[in-house]
Amino acid sequence: MRLNIVCIPGDGIGPEIVSEAKKVLNKIAEKYGHEMVFTDILMGGASIDVHGVPLTEEAIATAKAADAVLMGSIGGDTNTSPWYQLPPEKRPEAGLLKIRKALNLFANLRPAVLYEELAAACPLKEEISAAGFDILIMRELTGGLYFGERKTVEENGVRKAIDTLTYDENEIRRIAIKGFDIARKRKKKLTSVDKANVLDSSRLWRAVVNEVAKEYPDVKVEHMLVDNCAMQLVKDPAQFDVVLTENMFGDILSDEASMVTGSIGMLASASLNDTKFGLYEPSHGSAPDIAGKDLANPIATILSASMMLRYSFDLDQEADAVDAAVKKVLQDGYRTGDIMSEGCKKVGCKEMGSLITERI
Ligand code: IPM
Ligand code: MG
Repeated sequence: MRLNIVCIPGDGIGPEIVSEAKKVLNKIAEKYGHEMVFTDILMGGASIDVHGVPLTEEAIATAKAADAVLMGSIGGDTNTSPWYQLPPEKRPEAGLLKIRKALNLFANLRPAVLYEELAAACPLKEEISAAGFDILIMRELTGGLYFGERKTVEENGVRKAIDTLTYDENEIRRIAIKGFDIARKRKKKLTSVDKANVLDSSRLWRAVVNEVAKEYPDVKVEHMLVDNCAMQLVKDPAQFDVVLTENMFGDILSDEASMVTGSIGMLASASLNDTKFGLYEPSHGSAPDIAGKDLANPIATILSASMMLRYSFDLDQEADAVDAAVKKVLQDGYRTGDIMSEGCKKVGCKEMGSLITERI
């Protein structure tokens, strides 16, 4: 296969981790006879520094023309970076929101898996973590509060900020269908999370999810309020398989779920539209404090590249090879600083990338 992949190294540790993922992909290409062509585009702070905006129209066009996009991370230290002196629509995060909307990436898949080899890093009590867990948070990514109209006004000398939360039934239906399709391939259980005891948008969400559920009688569906879900994720994470939710709830719950695994440096994500196209990125941020020091964990980006092989290119065998190589490296006792535990061998970002590549 000839694969045209656009890379967004981005900011902070982004360039280092993307470079390790490329190393792995090049090995896959060599071993399985594919041709991979990589084109880099700028986004976030890296684009602001060159073009004055976090994402240019040319960059969007290049991404649209690709088969898939692999991203590192964007953004800097919000307290010290000059990027955060700019108006909100010119800051690094605006580039990410813009590309999601421009590429119609409405379905965000964020797996939160407890790796057996890293069980010691799980912050939950052993009696809870012993059950293990493998949750897929499915977050709606192009609607709701993050894309609604917003403004700040002054009324009678009082400053007032307004954000609007809107969902139409089509936006809910298409993500629900994706959620049920994926639940069907997993343990056939879907938990839809909302705040239907307060919000109209949540009541519509629940109604549409129930309509879609009728087409999937083999999938068990349950509804859970978001505050309860936040609690259940630390109390009994093993109860969850697919968690389907709207944009802001998914933003918050996916951070919680990833923290609970104890290894956020391991978690990949995929943002998909209704074709095979997707943008793949680690679930963690740009960690500006350790950028450029060869300390970052490249595994989440490497596993994101594996999700790309699986979801955008249907290369399951190749994706399995990447996942197996990651598992093998962990079994062989290699760890980056963030997942280090006693008796293991500590390695840097580059060495971790090479160790995984060698095992493919
Ligand atoms: C994420 C991030 C983004 C989001 C920010 C950087 C805009 O937190 O991908 O979860 O909230 O979607
Ligand atoms: Mg977030």
